[in-house]
Amino acid sequence: MINNKILNICCIGAGYVGGPTMAVIAKNCPDLILNVVDINEERINLWNSEDLSNLPIFEPGLSQIISQVRNKNLFFSSNIKKAIKNADMIFLSVNTPIKEKGIGAGYASDLRWVESCAREINENAVGHTIVVEKSTLPVKTAKTIQEILNVSNNSDRSFSVLSNPEFLAEGTAINDLENPDRVLIGGDDHKAMLLLKKIYLNWLPEEKIIFTNLWSSELSKLTANAFLAQRISSINSISAICESTGADIKEVSNAIGKDKRIGEEFLNSGPGFGGSCFKKDILNLVYLARFYRLNEVADYWENVIKINSWQNNRVYETIVKKLFGNVVDKKIAILGFSFKKNTNDTRESPSINICKNLIHDGAFLNIHDFKVSKDTISKDLSSKNESRWSFQENVYDAFEDTHAAVLLTEWELYVNIDWEEVLNKVKKPFWIFDTRSILNPKVFDNLEINFWQIGFGSNK
Ligand code: NAD
Ligand code: UDX
Repeated sequence: MINNKILNICCIGAGYVGGPTMAVIAKNCPDLILNVVDINEERINLWNSEDLSNLPIFEPGLSQIISQVRNKNLFFSSNIKKAIKNADMIFLSVNTPIKEKGIGAGYASDLRWVESCAREINENAVGHTIVVEKSTLPVKTAKTIQEILNVSNNSDRSFSVLSNPEFLAEGTAINDLENPDRVLIGGDDHKAMLLLKKIYLNWLPEEKIIFTNLWSSELSKLTANAFLAQRISSINSISAICESTGADIKEVSNAIGKDKRIGEEFLNSGPGFGGSCFKKDILNLVYLARFYRLNEVADYWENVIKINSWQNNRVYETIVKKLFGNVVDKKIAILGFSFKKNTNDTRESPSINICKNLIHDGAFLNIHDFKVSKDTISKDLSSKNESRWSFQENVYDAFEDTHAAVLLTEWELYVNIDWEEVLNKVKKPFWIFDTRSILNPKVFDNLEINFWQIGFGSNK
């Protein structure tokens, strides 16, 4: 750091957050040098691949930015020590999944990757370094990081720890980063906070940047995700009432969303929320509440997850019931495997559980997705199910000899399917299950197709 200016940035973790976030900073701050590093060399090689269609992440608009800034002021490498040594500011963007074993298993975040980064920084940093939490972390993690960094008695170097959680959503990450609702900076070193703020001021107005203390910043991230997920569980619970009563969930969402206090976004009923964040972050909040003996608070938030699993199972059970309670050796087309449109990410995708359940019941699946690879599906469905599904590159081929199709991801191209063409390929009676409410039920009125839609019910 020369004259209190940030010149060189390191980001540890080249994933869904680290890659796009640093690309957008590089684009908007041409005077900064950004090094994104990762222990996963294969991932780094993909970030460096000549062919931009091979980037490890599919995100609309990302490859264009990468082509502008890569190897100019944005670099991807596995040389973590060197990047730390040269950095004035280090973003931690590593994964923080739920612990699988030990104390807090199933709820608490597994902080081993964050801790190992802190130790690596402690061993290699030079001069004054600002360490920024970008990963979503349990409240008080900054204290752990500070303690690890402060063990060294070397007076040549010092650290400030800030929290700067990321609010991007996959599929819209570039737009979310270019034009966020707010940027949150938590800390107790005002000078360091101003230096981080200065970076964002290169493309954002001052009023979008909020300063808080460290713990408010860490907690706000968990709370934002909990509130968003809660809206989805709320609307999903109402979708079941719609199906029982003849109300239509799209009409109900529209009607309640017009109330400014409720708002129109995040009221789409579906097969349950997926993605790497919502479940993990709520479980973390539940763990935190239980830790402080706030059991009612913990139970309240845990129900958001319970409704989510219930909705996912409800979809699967509806499919089996409509197919006469029997799917043994029936072929079913699966339209969409990613957890939402415009991403190749399948972490916690609602498709995984529904596909596993249908396979377990004896069905054979023809699986199609626009961006998810066969390899990824194979890992998600586990090797024991390998002979019970096939991967379909072409959406029309996925319908061959099927008894039903289940639309699980809201890829817009599914709306344009020519259902008359589909009818020539399938077995009758044929069912379509639209779990994302993107198809127009009227289209099926005059076709020999039974149609079921979430929060609407069936036409037959
Ligand atoms: P990811 O798994 O895609 O990427 C994390 C990367 O960190 C991996 O490539 C991994 O190899 C690397 N890594 C782990 N330990 C390392 C180490 N010691 N040194 C170098 N590299 C290391 O995860 P992600 O989706 O980018 O999420 C990262 C964090 O951001 C999580 O805390 C997540 O909760 C949070 N977050 C994610 C999103 C999202 O949409 N994915 C949005 C906001 C916040
Ligand atoms: C979420 C948060 O939105 C983002 O701010 C945070 O930084 C990371 O976690 P993400 O998981 O990438 O982002 O996508 P999001 O758009 O929130 O969708 C999550 C899940 O909820 C998806 O499965 C999506 O299909 C589902 N969803 C979303 C609904 O079922 N209905 C909705 O109305 C909105």
